[in-house]
Amino acid sequence: MVSADCTDHPVMPANSYERLVQSVVDYAIYMLDTRGRVVSWNPGAERIKGYRAEEVIGRHFSLFFTPQDCQDGRPERLLKQALEQGVAQDEGWRVRKDGTQFWALAALDVIRDEQGRVIGLAKVTRDITDRRESAMQLDAVRAQLFQAQKLEALGQLTGGLAHDFNNLLTIIINSARMAQESRDPVRQRRLMEHILDAGQRGTELTKQLLTFARHRQLEVTPIAPTELLAATRGLLEHALPREIALEEHLQPDLPLIEVDVGQLQMVLLNLLFNARDAIEGQGTIRMGISAVELAGEVEGLSGHFVYFEVSDSGPGIDPHVLPRIFEPFFTTKPFGKGTGLGLSQAYGFAKQSDGAITVQSEIGKGTCMRLYLPASRRDTDGQLER
Ligand SMILES: Nc1ncnc2c1ncn2[C@@H]1O[C@H](COP(=O)(O)OP(=O)(O)O)[C@@H](O)[C@H]1O
Ligand SMILES: [Mg+2]
Repeated sequence: MVSADCTDHPVMPANSYERLVQSVVDYAIYMLDTRGRVVSWNPGAERIKGYRAEEVIGRHFSLFFTPQDCQDGRPERLLKQALEQGVAQDEGWRVRKDGTQFWALAALDVIRDEQGRVIGLAKVTRDITDRRESAMQLDAVRAQLFQAQKLEALGQLTGGLAHDFNNLLTIIINSARMAQESRDPVRQRRLMEHILDAGQRGTELTKQLLTFARHRQLEVTPIAPTELLAATRGLLEHALPREIALEEHLQPDLPLIEVDVGQLQMVLLNLLFNARDAIEGQGTIRMGISAVELAGEVEGLSGHFVYFEVSDSGPGIDPHVLPRIFEPFFTTKPFGKGTGLGLSQAYGFAKQSDGAITVQSEIGKGTCMRLYLPASRRDTDGQLER
């Protein structure tokens, strides 16, 4: 509408601007004098804030702020910033005439005359309460799905862990009993060492499990990829049947990555569980980590990356199924075995971390999943490289 007008009349007469502003109902557009008093008012402002022009003209714009914001000096701060820097932007609660509040996105720009003197400020405010609420709902749903997936992973782990704890307890009880019966101090000492060793392994296991289970906020820290893999392997070993061999291929001198460690660990566990589930009977899972320089060949990414690779000797993924595996709730597993959330979460995590996840699969040959994450600009001592 505006551009069509502009092509016909390159210079818009002043009253056309007035008409334009007066026809906008989705944005509050009004002018303030340099002291922050309302000078003009449009229908959008009336619709959003509930005041008619004659009720607000001449009043200070702090009228629209919450008492708390007024007390904190927020309106004055915004005004000062706009006057000094030419523009100020703000997002926050504002109060309507009837006392109800809305979430506003506001911009304040200085207006100058031909001589460059500041004659006032243009204020544009938008009510984005709905947008904010749906974003928050989406976050809440994501957090719930994340939690669901974590519970599934924990469930998968604890079966194997219970078994291992049983073994450790058996070692402890039997060794203690034998030590009690033995009179040979050398043998006694060796049995004590077995007990201590088993106890320590148990402690290590619970520690790993607790770290993984804890509900945490997204927490980004620099970490060495190999360290992370070691912790994940510690957990995974208990969930793999004996028929499946685990191989590791780690490139030396890998750069650090900056990610949420808990989330990455969960993503890796899920890739590994998928590989395990795919293998029937005997098979091999290979885990690898490498560094790579990308120039757009993987999902348009470019720069230094680290990729985690999980490949299996399973049956591969059917080409009809392949396009759907990253969909939330898509699963080919029987009820109770799969939630269909693992890969969708891996995908979300990769995107959120400015990386990508790729899949290569061939029927009868197996599947290879790669998770690309940006390499940190910190060196291994944690110093920022220049
Ligand atoms: N390594 C793999 N080999 C074969 N199929 C796989 C592999 N990884 C994932 N899939 C397929 O992708 C689907 C979705 O995986 P995922 O999102 O982790 O959910 P779930 O494991 O709960 O089914 C799986 O049900 C399976 O059909
Ligand atoms: Mg899965």
